[in-house]
Amino acid sequence: MKANIGVVGLAVMGQNLALNIARNGYAVAVYNRTAERTKKFVEERVKGEKIFPSFDIQHFVDSIEKPRKIILMVKAGSPVDEIIEELLPYLEKGDLLIDAGNSHYADTNERLERLSHHGILYLGMGVSGGEYGALHGPSIMPGGSLEAYKMVQDVLTKIAAKTEDGPCCTYVGNGSAGHFVKMVHNGIEYSIMQSISEIYDIMRKVLKMNSAEIGRVFEEWNKGELGSFLVEITYKIMNYMDEETNRPLVELILDKAEQKGTGKWTAQAALDLGVPTPSLNVAVFARTISHFKEQRIQLSKIFGEKKMAHVDKSIVKDLEKSLLFNMFLSFSQGLWLIHEASNAYNYNIDLLEVLRIWKGGCIIRAKLLDFLRNILKDNPQNINLLASDLAMNFVKEKLPSVLRVSSIARESGLPTPVLNNSIDYLFSLTEENLPANLIQAQRDFFGAHTFERIDKEGTFHVEWQELE
Ligand SMILES: NC(=O)c1ccc[n+]([C@@H]2O[C@H](COP(=O)([O-])OP(=O)(O)OC[C@H]3O[C@@H](n4cnc5c(N)ncnc54)[C@H](OP(=O)(O)O)[C@@H]3O)[C@@H](O)[C@H]2O)c1
Repeated sequence: MKANIGVVGLAVMGQNLALNIARNGYAVAVYNRTAERTKKFVEERVKGEKIFPSFDIQHFVDSIEKPRKIILMVKAGSPVDEIIEELLPYLEKGDLLIDAGNSHYADTNERLERLSHHGILYLGMGVSGGEYGALHGPSIMPGGSLEAYKMVQDVLTKIAAKTEDGPCCTYVGNGSAGHFVKMVHNGIEYSIMQSISEIYDIMRKVLKMNSAEIGRVFEEWNKGELGSFLVEITYKIMNYMDEETNRPLVELILDKAEQKGTGKWTAQAALDLGVPTPSLNVAVFARTISHFKEQRIQLSKIFGEKKMAHVDKSIVKDLEKSLLFNMFLSFSQGLWLIHEASNAYNYNIDLLEVLRIWKGGCIIRAKLLDFLRNILKDNPQNINLLASDLAMNFVKEKLPSVLRVSSIARESGLPTPVLNNSIDYLFSLTEENLPANLIQAQRDFFGAHTFERIDKEGTFHVEWQELE
């Protein structure tokens, strides 16, 4: 009997995805570069599922029915190219490779092009939901040719998370659309995680709340408008005790945030495409700054003690509204970036579908997504969501709370970069007259870069000073 599909790469994600596919009734061939991992997987985790291990790449390819469909779940970067080169000699025209890792979208474009010369179909597929999602139902973002997607549509929609709006999988668009959308998903994820951390910081330092109290607040919030995966895991983290010390584990974790690059790529793509995503960008820098622990210790001593603002717990309501404000504007910036990329790269992405498949199984799933979909449904051109009374009323209603929280953080010397950048994003976009006229004058002054005028058509330059 041949397998219906193959999975290469048996670290956490590959193992769980293979099990998920097998539990949905498919026979799955599996292969991993290091044989030991394959053996361990089969011995310890396969319990009657139709999973066929291979320890040789040719045997692996031969064990899959034609046209072959092979999911690559290996480390992003050069490992993807290496495994493609190893597979190529055994593949035939019409076979399909699916890169389900977090590959950079430019790499996906290059691989699509390269493999098309061999007659091999290719999908760049974002998968969100971590190891739990991969096993129980992730959010799946495949991009490439529609013909390639149709070959695996059944299996992908079966293994995806389900919501009342259907399976969390859709054909995202042409070329590297799937990986681009997954990348921006991660950029939004960085921003929301940083927002939650900023609010947590105010709770613990200004309000002097302990982790259990903070956990209770996040648990309450999770029942309301803020309901989301990231808020849910936050209260679970607050409640998790370290067995050795009997203290909340979160308080014992070193404050240096790691990153694998998708947040940085999102910021780079936004800068390349000229789309304002300040909240997403500063969330990356916040992680970067966190790494300078030794410098921070040294400078904190020179700076001196920070005096926390005197406020009571009545501001918890303001903190909730601030987080909603940040969440909304993080999505706003991410959607705008996807829209511009879709135009620039001919992805042909349906933003409503993207919001739909983020509703379940994924790290940024949130109740707020239904609200966003309602806004966009009424006006599909409202690409950053702000151009509607519904959206503007939502952010304006939160604004007094947001400004209070920002000012409490400023007064206390606490960094809240996402909160402040979200405020400035809103203030800038809603400002008819920005001081960019002065910047244009300065540019023309020192570089003869020219400027336009508000009172007549044309491009102008003046000699601002005598050259001599
Ligand atoms: N972890 C998550 O929550 C998550 C969520 C979404 C997406 N992703 C993405 O999914 C992919 C897999 O993630 P992961 O965390 O399961 O694993 P990972 O640590 O990113 O990668 C390990 C896997 O890649 C294989 N590999 C590394 N270099 C290789 C090479 N040169 N040739 C062949 N195979 C090679 C390893 O094989 P060996 O056993 O031989 O070393 C192992 O199977 C990544 O792109 C990741 O970014 C991860």
